[in-house]
Amino acid sequence: MPHGIFITFEGVDGSGKSTHIRKLVEHLRERRSPVVVTREPGGTKVGEHIRNLLLRPGMGKMSSLTELILMYAAREQHLEEVVRPALARGRVIISDRYNDASFAYQGYGRMLGARTVRALDRAICGRTQPDLTLLLDLDPRVALERTRRRTNRGGAKLTRFENHGLKFQQRVRAGYLAMARQEPRRIKVIATDRPAAEVQADIRKLVDGLLAKRLRFGSTAAQARPAIKKRRS
Ligand SMILES: Nc1ncnc2c1ncn2[C@@H]1O[C@H](COP(=O)(O)OP(=O)(O)OP(=O)(O)O)[C@@H](O)[C@H]1O
Ligand SMILES: [Mg+2]
Repeated sequence: MPHGIFITFEGVDGSGKSTHIRKLVEHLRERRSPVVVTREPGGTKVGEHIRNLLLRPGMGKMSSLTELILMYAAREQHLEEVVRPALARGRVIISDRYNDASFAYQGYGRMLGARTVRALDRAICGRTQPDLTLLLDLDPRVALERTRRRTNRGGAKLTRFENHGLKFQQRVRAGYLAMARQEPRRIKVIATDRPAAEVQADIRKLVDGLLAKRLRFGSTAAQARPAIKKRRS
């Protein structure tokens, strides 16, 4: 049975996830890799409704545990509808955030603790864990500044999480880095306080390395095929 490759992007708000996913996907599509791009919370119709509840500013008070459970409700839907079917078809699936975000935001940021998150994670994600996680690491102060600039240019408005302030974002960052120390083989820390082209080159090296390894050892359909040369018109 073919088994795809599951790659997740993590990092504080404004660390560069969406930017680098876009560039990586361009690269993979040029190589004719069967890529599926998705995001959390969301990625499904039900999930996008839950995302709205979670991210909209002015939602009113929400307990941290409610927040965590809603995240996992959206995640369950995402796994059922998108992630597991794509993996079964041998796709390379790239998700803008996944379960590490719950450990970082609700576990560390909201201080619910890793045990509570892990209990839900075992029940819902089970063995569907990422093959590779790219942790885009940036000082939250710089990240917030970049996000503000993006907002001023007419981009998306600040979300409930971004409005939570620096202390919260710093706990989230520390949480992510602690997880990377615990799982250094899966979670790769990429500093994004550098020119985007440099950051992207590091990301491509890691992803290409993983795809090449699968090509050598696996019978997956998620293999990079050499790009077909474009005909000049
Ligand atoms: N290496 C970089 N140098 C300077 N600016 C960057 C770099 N990478 C991304 N940016 C800019 O930083 C801003 C935030 O990036 P992006 O939207 O990709 O972050 P994100 O992690 O997806 O944020 P969010 O969590 O809010 O979705 C964007 O305006 C983007 O153009
Ligand atoms: Mg983004």
